[in-house]
Amino acid sequence: MSCLSVFQLEKEPFSTSPDPEFFYRSNEHYAALNRLEIAIRLKRGLSVILGDVGTGKTTLSRALLQSFYGEEENYIFHMVLSPSFKSEYQFLTHLTKTFGISPFFRSTIDHREAIEKYLFRKCVQEKKTVVLLIDEGQKLMQPHLEVLRTLLNYETNQYKMLQLVILGQMELLPRIKRIKNFMDRISMRYILNPLDEYETGQLIEFRLKQAGYKEEKSIFSYEAIRKIYEYTQGYPRQISLICHNAMEHLIMNDGESVTAEVIESIISKEKVWE
Ligand SMILES: Nc1ncnc2c1ncn2[C@@H]1O[C@H](COP(=O)(O)OP(=O)(O)O)[C@@H](O)[C@H]1O
Ligand SMILES: [Mg+2]
Repeated sequence: MSCLSVFQLEKEPFSTSPDPEFFYRSNEHYAALNRLEIAIRLKRGLSVILGDVGTGKTTLSRALLQSFYGEEENYIFHMVLSPSFKSEYQFLTHLTKTFGISPFFRSTIDHREAIEKYLFRKCVQEKKTVVLLIDEGQKLMQPHLEVLRTLLNYETNQYKMLQLVILGQMELLPRIKRIKNFMDRISMRYILNPLDEYETGQLIEFRLKQAGYKEEKSIFSYEAIRKIYEYTQGYPRQISLICHNAMEHLIMNDGESVTAEVIESIISKEKVWE
């Protein structure tokens, strides 16, 4: 039996996939998303979002794509989900492929020229905005960052031809600081922090509602939410995981609501794995 039938839900409320429908706009997430969207619309060039594992960077990127639904005529999004490449050449090859440029080039210079031509065609001739979104940005090594820096050099008198969004863990920061002129090119930077206790509760309620929960009565007690916050420190991934376990616990035990005791027992089982 799943929690879907027991609580008459239409969807899994605490899945850990980055579904934008379950994206709760906390103050942090809202500000980051809003600023990103503006940076792209104004063609400001480079945006960097940093945050620990599980703060919601990937989910945020999916919500960003959703903000541009229906605008495919004017905005072209390209994604690199895991930029671990052995060399500058391999990275450039991957980028040309991602941009849909025919891959028959021999040298790094050929690749760069092809990308520049592509950007010129899309941005200047066709008047579109090209966005390259790189997730797991902490995997970018020095040579890759150098490549990205040169791509940001392509500009008209008014705007950058490539809108680059890098999302990554904090360890990316010292690496970009080491690259000359990289930091000053960042037009929008944001560090995604975890939620506070109030927003932890709001996120839980929001996800249940999105999953189709219609009752007035909360499934999670106030004390349970406090415990969840204490344990997860407001990290959305941790919140999802613990809530998923709590719902499972309820169903197995024919319970109706998640109490502080339920959360305590889940935490004590989790701690064995730490
Ligand atoms: N704003 C949010 N609202 C609801 N759930 C979120 C939010 N941010 C993250 N999550 C959830 O947390 C988990 C981890 O998010 P993810 O985007 O993968 O984090 P990161 O990429 O920073 O490691 C996912 O299950 C996601 O659904
Ligand atoms: Mg991620």
